[in-house]
Amino acid sequence: MAEQRTSIHGQWTSRTVFILAATGSAVGLGNIWKFPYIAGENGGGTFVLVYLLCIALIGVPIMMAEIMLGRRGKQSPINTMIALAKDENRNPGWVWLGWMGVIAGFLILSYYSVIAGWAMSYVFRTGGGMFIGVTADGVNSIFTDLVSDPERLLAWHTIFMVMTMTIVARGVKNGIEKAVTYLMPLLFGLLFIIVIYAMTTGYFMDGVRFLFTPGSIDGKGILIAMGHAFFTLSLGMGAIMVYGSYLSKDHSIVQASILIALADTVVALLAGMAIFPIVFANGLEPGAGPGLIFQTLPIAFGHMPGGTMVGVLFFTLLVFAAWTSAISLIEPAVAYLVENKGLSRIYASVWIGVLTWFVGLGTVFSFNIWKDHTLSIPYIFEDLSFFDTLDYLTANIMLPLGGLFIAIFAAWVMKEESTKDEMATHPLIYKVWHFLVKFITPLAVIVVFLKAIGAI
Ligand code: TRP
Repeated sequence: MAEQRTSIHGQWTSRTVFILAATGSAVGLGNIWKFPYIAGENGGGTFVLVYLLCIALIGVPIMMAEIMLGRRGKQSPINTMIALAKDENRNPGWVWLGWMGVIAGFLILSYYSVIAGWAMSYVFRTGGGMFIGVTADGVNSIFTDLVSDPERLLAWHTIFMVMTMTIVARGVKNGIEKAVTYLMPLLFGLLFIIVIYAMTTGYFMDGVRFLFTPGSIDGKGILIAMGHAFFTLSLGMGAIMVYGSYLSKDHSIVQASILIALADTVVALLAGMAIFPIVFANGLEPGAGPGLIFQTLPIAFGHMPGGTMVGVLFFTLLVFAAWTSAISLIEPAVAYLVENKGLSRIYASVWIGVLTWFVGLGTVFSFNIWKDHTLSIPYIFEDLSFFDTLDYLTANIMLPLGGLFIAIFAAWVMKEESTKDEMATHPLIYKVWHFLVKFITPLAVIVVFLKAIGAI
């Protein structure tokens, strides 16, 4: 039974370490690169509001469910689903949920790594003084130069994948724990410094107004906001589940989830407040797309005192934030190969890493030689590049679907006595959580899906 299981991959040394690792997974490019640019593309205020609602009503309850399933199953998401379905005498077919997560994780990492590569190259560009006194146009052409060069993108993508494989191969405990302990607070501090710079631009309130004044949004925008709630909290594909499987029984899932979600949200909002004032002060376009932070923040670094140092530190920390997220994207797949194929962590990481690297080539080419090739799927999306297609399919479809079925499994398939035992929380809190994952969360996800395809 569940009570006797232990993870063959080891256990976190303390609750704090688990929270740091999960926060390390959650806080990444999603908060600093993706959130501002999709908020910009979708008109700001209302998008942010829907995103915050999704974090609270969908994200937090699903995070609790994912940690709970992981801790009870104590294996990779694939084997956890098999074990839990068996414990509950349910259909073993639930294993597909684990598989979908593994596939989503590796698809996400394939493009995540390319973007992390951009951040790496910006460490050197900033350090070399390329942005000192630069204009908005100058920053823009430096960015365009980078992404139109497939060789450079490929080199950085390769380096980032090697970094990710190295840490995953060493095991979750050595390395990750230390990295997140020191680096996350530092990232926080630097974001603050940039926000303070943004206050001096004279356009701070324009940025804040853009982020928080409700306007209009369409069904697609709502779907993107919900998809991002999953993406930013690392939910819906088993990353948090597998981290939960290394968590010991005497720690509170509820408290940990709330802390992680709060930290993640604060980082995203800070990033927004750092970026939009710079956008407006320089007459830039909030909807500029994936290049947004690379076309705005360098302006700040080029003009603030000590900007070169702040910039180098900032992009370095961004790379670390991406790194601690990337490892969680392939940990489920690696854990599975170790469990079922008897591979060592090293071999498993290299296999998955090479495969991911290969798919990443598609994203590398999306910004240059394949720039004019787009894909469409009727009712779902149209005219997206390879990169945008992967991002859309994973963040807006696979993660919410994964989350939906995680909620259904936790609340409708598992017996209440099992979930109550594993959650081990105050009866009232348990009731609220159970109600949310049983009714509100699944309903919300379904409504947003229907709205996005125009069915309601
Ligand atoms: N949450 C990370 C970010 O915001 C990305 C990430 C890590 C992720 N693990 C994940 C996204 C699992 C979805 C699923 O950058």
